[in-house]
Amino acid sequence: MSDTIESVLQEKRLFNPPAEFSEHARIKSMEEYQQLYDKAAQDPQAFWAELATNELHWFQKWDKVLDWQPPFAKWFINGKINISYNCLDRHLTTWRKNKAALIWEGEPGDSRTLTYAQLHREVCQMANVIKDLGVKKGDRVGIYMPMIPEAAIAMLACARIGAPHSVVFGGFSSEALKARLQDAEAKLVITADGGFRKDKIVPLKNAVDEALADNSVPSVANVLVVQRTKQDINMQADRDHWWHELQPDASADCAAEPMDSEDLLFILYTSGTTGKPKGVVHTTGGYNLYTHITTKWTFDLKETDVYWCTADVGWITGHSYIVYGPLSNGATSVMYEGAPRASNPGCFWDVVEKYDVTIFYTAPTAIRAFIKMGDEHPNNRDLSSLRILGTVGEPINPKAWIWYRQVIGGDRCPIVDTWWQTETGGFMLTPLPGAIPTKPGSATFPFPGIIADVVDLEGNSVGENQGGYLVVKHPWPSMMRTVYKDDDRFRRTYWEHIPPKDGNYLYFAGDGARKDEDGYFWVMGRVDDVMNVSGHRLGTMEVESALVSHPAVAEAAVVSRPDEVKGEEVYAFVILEGTHTASDELKAELKQHVGKEIGAIARPGEIRFTDALPKTRSGKIIRRFLRNLASGEELVGDISTMEDLSVLDKLRQG
Ligand code: PRX
Repeated sequence: MSDTIESVLQEKRLFNPPAEFSEHARIKSMEEYQQLYDKAAQDPQAFWAELATNELHWFQKWDKVLDWQPPFAKWFINGKINISYNCLDRHLTTWRKNKAALIWEGEPGDSRTLTYAQLHREVCQMANVIKDLGVKKGDRVGIYMPMIPEAAIAMLACARIGAPHSVVFGGFSSEALKARLQDAEAKLVITADGGFRKDKIVPLKNAVDEALADNSVPSVANVLVVQRTKQDINMQADRDHWWHELQPDASADCAAEPMDSEDLLFILYTSGTTGKPKGVVHTTGGYNLYTHITTKWTFDLKETDVYWCTADVGWITGHSYIVYGPLSNGATSVMYEGAPRASNPGCFWDVVEKYDVTIFYTAPTAIRAFIKMGDEHPNNRDLSSLRILGTVGEPINPKAWIWYRQVIGGDRCPIVDTWWQTETGGFMLTPLPGAIPTKPGSATFPFPGIIADVVDLEGNSVGENQGGYLVVKHPWPSMMRTVYKDDDRFRRTYWEHIPPKDGNYLYFAGDGARKDEDGYFWVMGRVDDVMNVSGHRLGTMEVESALVSHPAVAEAAVVSRPDEVKGEEVYAFVILEGTHTASDELKAELKQHVGKEIGAIARPGEIRFTDALPKTRSGKIIRRFLRNLASGEELVGDISTMEDLSVLDKLRQG
């Protein structure tokens, strides 16, 4: 299932968009793409201004397109806009009023469809409820939800009244939730009694109770609870409120607040190279425009499409490409609570068949899991409605790409491999499906308006097929504005690794890449201490901090090793405190402990006890060697800087 690096490097297959697809596509040819790209590159501000005028509703037009004080960008200065208005209200005066906005499929098999009019009504009601709970413009709201329509409703309700949301993935633990709510100083938390995930019930409300216990997040005054699973939960008087009790009396009339283009829309926490996740800040106008136009062009969106992105709203993919991008376009967006698993390996294909999904967007780790589950599951379903397939989250290996194309796409659907990040807000490198011939494993070219390159540490472009660092050379509308409450970290993390070149500040993405002889970009993976486990981003230090918070652990070093399905797997080296002894029970306990501190996604696949770790003379752990050891490879690199060579021998023997 996996490909060797050599086979990826030698990948030469080229798949042209089918002629009949291109004929009806929004962008029909490479020439058309090139023209758009050139136009945008020559005058980015004019390009974005024209799109902002044509594609969005503004309460008040901006008076300047871009204010760029590197590394701080402002877009559409003094423009007044509301993304909830663009996602809802403006569709109500068209035939889309009664079009399905969200089609939701629940894990136990229940389902619900909300038209634009119905979604608008519920969003207004929730906006009024949260206003009554004391939330004002500018107050942050934590959202910790299962994949149910109320998750999208909560986001849109916050956006409607100008209360920035901070969605925390429902798979994160109470500890992780607490840290995020504290950093955001959230005033309200919107959650559910629980959620259904993979044949289990996730006790979300209990986790909120734990996170808020002992007044540990003093900013939180209220908790709004959606009833989903109907299990018993504790409702704390004066703090906790049921949505279904407040909704019936809530007015469905709530005007969208005119927001400044640069007003904070949301904070989304993501892993970096330190133990503390960073709050990625996105603002309103630029984010609305960029997610809107990338959804429209990359998915060649047509009025009749049934679009399904399988991500969770807790990640940026869910924000940009389940909620904001599709709804801003008036599309029908499918939301699914379930996940493929051994007990229901065909569930994704049932959803495609049931709703005649036309555009399907998922992650390579899911594709590799499907390959393992067997072709009979997709083969037994009618997938002929599909016309475009997408992938995101990690490099897709060519074998998985070809399987996706053949078995899911029936050899007829173009694949869009979209490279982007929480920080970028939307797609940066991606094929436009009617225009750009694809190569398995390549995210092809930059989206029009994005000036990307592969450079060395001095900022010089590297040669054809040479590895380097992926950078972006010009600001774009949905770029993150800063790290919440930490401008310095923003500057250090993204703008100081590589010095400005020819007057351009270079955004450092943290990914390695190369450009081939045809100019195609190939993203190779992270170049920093960030891991990518099942398409989820995790910091090595984050997992290390979780491990050392256990009383038995003196020191921990975490690396990842390749995994056939997950892409990467967490591998931890642990030194125990003197009085503790290594055992399988302790291993299991430590894995569980990491799950409790961060969430199940961070649980190490393997833990190895050791007496010492390879370190430089200045005391820095040499992770390179640990990665080699974890994946059973020969040690590569210079060992002369090591403090104590016997450590390596012991680790190799152990
Ligand atoms: O390493 C890249 C990888 O995922 C990282 C961003 O993770 P996150 O902020 O969680 O956002 C994931 C969804 C956008 C990137 O730095 N990545 C994402 N998409 C791709 C990818 N790597 C290769 N190819 C992709 N298409």
